[in-house]
Parts: sequence; C-alpha cells; structure tokens
Amino acid sequence: MNITAKQLKEMYLKFFESKGHKIVPSASLAPENDPTVLFTTAGMHPLVPFLMGEPHPLGKRIVNVQKCIRTQDIDEVGDSTHTTFFEMLGNWSLGDYFKKEAIEWSFEFLTSPKWLGLDKNRLSVTCFEGNENAPKDEEAAKIWMKCGIPKERIAFLPKENNWWGPAGETGPCGPDTEMFYWKPNDKKAPKVFNPDDSNWVEIWNDVFMQYEKTRDGSYREMKSKNVDTGMGVERTAMVLQGYEDIFQTELFKPIIDKISEISGKKPTKENLQSFRVITDHTRASTFILGDEREIVPSNREQGYILRRFIRRAMKSGINLGIEKDFLGDLAKLIIDMYKDLYPLLEKKRSKIIKELTSEEQKFRLTLINGIKEFQKIAATAMQSEKRTISGKDAFLLFQSFGFPVEMTMEMAHESDLIVDTKEYKEEYEKHQELSRVGAEQKFKGGLSDSGVTTTKLHTATHLLNEALRKLIDPKITQKGSNITAERLRFDFNFDRKLTAEEIKAVEDEVNRVIKQGIEVKREEMTPEDAKAQGAQAEFGARYPPKVSVYSVGKYSKEICMGPHVKNTKEIGVFKIIKEESSAAGIRRIKAIVE
Ligand code: ALA
Repeated sequence: MNITAKQLKEMYLKFFESKGHKIVPSASLAPENDPTVLFTTAGMHPLVPFLMGEPHPLGKRIVNVQKCIRTQDIDEVGDSTHTTFFEMLGNWSLGDYFKKEAIEWSFEFLTSPKWLGLDKNRLSVTCFEGNENAPKDEEAAKIWMKCGIPKERIAFLPKENNWWGPAGETGPCGPDTEMFYWKPNDKKAPKVFNPDDSNWVEIWNDVFMQYEKTRDGSYREMKSKNVDTGMGVERTAMVLQGYEDIFQTELFKPIIDKISEISGKKPTKENLQSFRVITDHTRASTFILGDEREIVPSNREQGYILRRFIRRAMKSGINLGIEKDFLGDLAKLIIDMYKDLYPLLEKKRSKIIKELTSEEQKFRLTLINGIKEFQKIAATAMQSEKRTISGKDAFLLFQSFGFPVEMTMEMAHESDLIVDTKEYKEEYEKHQELSRVGAEQKFKGGLSDSGVTTTKLHTATHLLNEALRKLIDPKITQKGSNITAERLRFDFNFDRKLTAEEIKAVEDEVNRVIKQGIEVKREEMTPEDAKAQGAQAEFGARYPPKVSVYSVGKYSKEICMGPHVKNTKEIGVFKIIKEESSAAGIRRIKAIVE
C-alpha cells in the first residue's frame, strides 16, 4: 500500500479519534514557558502542564501532529533517517488508559489492514530492562507477546535507550517501549531482533509516565499515570512506501531534485551528505521563520540556531558549487508542501524568503573568504603537534567571518583537527556576546521543572503584561515569554526605553495587585468566547476548540495553559531587574519574585 505522509497523518488522527481522543493543533516550535529547551523536541512538550496535572479542557485523551526540531541530531543529518526538523504524531492519556491500551492500539494501527497494514513479521520492540529505580518492564513485554510479537523480537534495554524524562531536576518520567521496522525489502527480517542493526528503524515510542522524580533524586510511583507517544512521520512514510531512506519520499524528493537542478549536479555517494544537509536545514529554517513566534537570525538562542542552520546549508551549497542565493527557492517548495496544515507558512511567505535571502546576501562573500582563512589556519594547525585550532582563531572565524564555532569544529573534524573550545569560550565570554554558550545542553527533550517559583513567575507574568498595558501603553501585547526557576522574561512591543520612573510604577502596580490577595481562576471556553471576553491571546497561534482561560479577579484574563498560583498573595515581592531592547520595536523585561 502506498500511503503518503499526508494520508498517514489523517489516518493517525482518525484512528485515535475513534478511540475517544480529541485533536489539538500543533503548537509553536519555540516552547514559551519551558526553560529546559529552546525548541519543541516532541509532541509532549506543549502538553507538559497537563502531564503535571493541570486539567485539559478537551479531556483525558489527546492526539495531534506536532512540528519538532531536535538539534542534538544535527551531526546525524546525512544518513538515511535523521533530520533536525520533523513532524511527530502523538497520542496521550492524561491519567486515563495505560500500558495495555497504548500498546494494543499501537499494534492495531501499525498492522491492521484497515489502518497502516504493515507486516507484523517485520516488527520488533524494545522494553526497559530495569534498574535500581524501577523494575524490568515485563508487563509491556507480555502485552506485546499477546499481540503476537514473539519473544525473540523483544529486546530489553537499559535506561539510556528505554526511559524518557525528566530533563529538568524533577517531574514525571518512566520506561518506554519502542517499535522498530525492518527496512530492507529484499532481505527477510532475521528471527532474532538485534537493536544495533541499523536495518531496524525506530518508528514509534510509547512512554509510560508512571514515576515522578523528586528533589531528593528518588522515584515515586505517581497516582495519575500518563501515556505519551511519538511516531515519526518521515520515517513511517518511508517504510510505508517501501523506501530505505526518508529522502526518497515525497517529503524530500522534490527538494533534492530542485537542488540538483540549481547545482547542475546529481546526488552521488560523495556529495549525498551536502544534498541532505541543505534539504533538512532549509526545512528547519523555513519552519522556524514561519513559526507563531517571531524568530529571526541572531547570535542568541533560537536565532543563533537558525543562523547556524542557514550557514550550514549555504556551506553545503558551496560544496556543490552553488554560487547564487538559492535557499528562498527551496523555501517556496517547502511552503507549498506544508501550507495546508500550517497556514502561517503561507502568511509569512515573504518574510521567510526575505530573511533567508538577506542572510545569504550578507554572508556569502564572508563565508567564501572565511573558508580561505580557515584553510590557512588549518594548514598551520596541521603542522603543530597537537593538531589543534586555537580558541583565538576559532573566535576570529566567528567574529570576522560569522562562523558559528560548531561549523569550525565540523570543518576541523573533516581535516582531522580539533578546536580548543575552552579557550574559545574564554575569548567569547571576554567579548560578552552570547548569553548562553552552553545552549546545546538545553536541547535534550523532556519535562520542565514546574516548581513553586516557576508557578509564581507565571502568574506574575500575567500581572506584568496587564500593568504595562495599563500604565505605559494600551497597545502593548506579549511578544514572547520565557520562565526559568530564577526569573521571568517578557518581550513586548514598544518603541523606546522605559524610564526609571515608569519601571518603578509598573513594579509598584504589580506588587499592589499581589498584596490585594486576588483569587486566580481557571475556566474553559472556546477561543472565540475567550477573545470576545477580552482575554489576551497570542497573535497567530492556533488554539484547540476549547482552551483554559486564567483570570486574576477582574485585573487580567489570558488564554494560557498554566500552571498558576491560587491567590496572588502567594507570589511574594515582584522585582524588575532589567529592561532592555530585544529587537527592533521590541523591549524585554526580566523580573524575579522574592
Ligand atoms: N516523548 C516521546 C518521544 O519523543 C514519545 O520519543
């Protein structure tokens, strides 16, 4: 059966709807209130508050298609199944069904001729082998065996493979069971499953969130158990269509063909990696630029990753001999492919193309000169005993030629050289540019720590939002928000610096509301009703048919997933610690509670 990616997504939603699930739209690629990641790495990310116990307005069974980015896979891009951008299909039980239904439904969807109709003789699974915190997951294995998966096709693996979350210090987590499909069409699947054989490709993961990791590091069984699953659209489309690499599917093939046309080169064994890197990174960049959140290339956080994708794609283009700007042409193809499911891509079409092209124009000449400079630096390093590029040189390549240090490291690697990253960081910090050099550490997916302080900061953010509108300008709206256990960060549209008096007045206003001890209330309604009642909503965001609306008395009302304090008194004392520019026409406030 030749099922397209589009049909696969429709079938998945339909299947889980038939099992009582409600569909929610894909959330933004940049999680708003999760300090542990820069990008949404899995469908569970936007659902964290509900996995932590906030009631979901649509009930206990949720299904969706979520756009995701995993930068930790960037070095793998070029093989047959890895990408940084991908779509994830997911179904969730929020304290409702558990292992039995999750596994049986996974099996039914994969193998029933009514649904995907995959060959069950080409299916294998992994289960958690157990450790000091949790027992071997015999329960999951038994359910698989009942479905008809033989014992030899079930591998028990350690925590590194079969455990999910939490990425923060604390939160729900648990064992998972992963499903693998045998790729080769011309070789029969071996009787015994060997998870190290790359002919077995992982297509789906069911996580059983039955434990909560607590502050003292111990694991405690949770009262309300959740299921979180994730199926990769690209990989599943690949096996459904009988291909052995995702780039053959209709999701990638037209882009590869276009690159071929632009470069005048056919993909060969030698240049295949360049084709794939361009394809993947342009998809990722198009989706980042076409996201609900305003993200543009910069030297910080998401903007830095975006810049890195664009520059890496350009460099791969140079490898293929492409000398003109070409990313915009590829983006057009990608927008056309995805605009039905992600209408914002079409709305932001001109922005996407403009940003890609402007980044290319700014960087092309410098990149070419930088490659020459790199070659000189590399030649010297090759003579040295340690075969090391100094941190100073790496910083020069960054500052004068715009080379993200990761790119220098990759190029060094190709010549069997290393980069003194410690010295690079010291140089960098001296120049105080990047607020977060260790940004990479944030990319592991998982659950955020929705501790007491973050909850307080969350409610304080709503009060700040309202106070700004009340005291500074009624046209102010939220342009971004990020909360860590230490501070809140709030971006809003305003075209000048706030004065010291204004900052003080806003701070006083928020503290005045806090002291009044106002109750925070949660209601459920349609997004239309919420907006009609004057609730703040995010521009361009797509909401499910029913949303949570949090009100602080009559003071503030916002569409939001929570969590929030029950009474403003709990917040404590609110303090603004910084007010600065974030982008043209956007100001940024950082504040804490004590
Ligand atoms: N959150 C799980 C994953 O991404 C389902 O694999």
